[in-house]
Amino acid sequence: MRILSGIQPSGTLHLGNYFGMMRPAIELQDQGEAFYFIADYHALTTLKDPAILRKNVREVAIDFLAAGLDPKKCCFFRQSDVLAVTELSWILATVAPMGLLERCHSYKDKIAKGLPASVGLFSYPVLMAADILIYDSDIVPVGKDQKQHVEVARDLAVKMNETYGSLFKLPEPKIKEETATVPGLDGAKMSKSYGNTLPLFLEEAVMRKKVMSIKTDSTPVEAPKPIENSVILDLYQHVASPVDYNAMKASFQAGGNGYGVYKKQLFDAIWEYLAPMRVRREEILRDPSYVDAVLKEGAEKANLIANQVLERVREAVGLR
Ligand code: ADP
Ligand code: TRP
Repeated sequence: MRILSGIQPSGTLHLGNYFGMMRPAIELQDQGEAFYFIADYHALTTLKDPAILRKNVREVAIDFLAAGLDPKKCCFFRQSDVLAVTELSWILATVAPMGLLERCHSYKDKIAKGLPASVGLFSYPVLMAADILIYDSDIVPVGKDQKQHVEVARDLAVKMNETYGSLFKLPEPKIKEETATVPGLDGAKMSKSYGNTLPLFLEEAVMRKKVMSIKTDSTPVEAPKPIENSVILDLYQHVASPVDYNAMKASFQAGGNGYGVYKKQLFDAIWEYLAPMRVRREEILRDPSYVDAVLKEGAEKANLIANQVLERVREAVGLR
């Protein structure tokens, strides 16, 4: 079974990225042949500062490795180190129906937020389909907001197969229901673009302050607290043991504590949950050549497969 996923280096990785995409990807490294990459071509659609892009790519690589990605078990690389993917993207674009791309929420959301409607932003899902199909991927672990893009990849695989004969496997998105959407500090989806994130690696005091700033309602201290849509409980569920989580839930229902008490418990649990990752990150930071070596080795392996698949496609469409 081949597993593939990518993450854009468009900012600092946060708990939403971790529980939605990174942790499932890390768990899957033991279950098949895993390919994970840093989607820097995709990041160009929104990020126009070369120095920041370079810095982000490095940070994402360091943070993903610190979070538990093991280069001995998976192939970890930079998207732009595999040129073949842009050629496949062009070939897929020649069968991609405009209507299919026009329906993509992510494009519509970005335009609504005021991003210029570039051709790159519009055809983002085609490049993502190329990422997926060029490694003959079976499953794609992503957060819920990427499901539609994986479906586009499937649709384009079907189109190619109908047009040129059986060329591609049909990939499946893999989405963990319990972590489908991790809430941010304000209760909306945790996202870099909403400025409501809890980054994985922060100074203790900064992280504490962020957790203490979680928006809560004005239920009096002594009254029971609503458990539905509680950001505190939702986040706590990810980082606490089931026993501790149930205890907090029961305490919400019983009343008698202010939200501050729960936020402190949440902070402690998050801080402890992330402790092994901080240790690993310090180790990685001590050897600056480590990350370069990992990405180089990953690129070599990824290119081997991508070039084989591209040759198959070139042959099938008549470019050979
Ligand atoms: P952001 O919204 O912060 O820009 P990205 O769009 O770069 O994050 O997402 C990278 C990966 O992390 C995707 O697979 C996405 O589905 C997942 N992800 C991002 N935010 C969340 C969240 N709040 N809950 C669950 N998964 C998320
Ligand atoms: N679009 C994805 C995101 O923003 C990143 C990505 C690019 C990706 N190519 C991919 C994810 C291929 C899975 C498979 O999170």
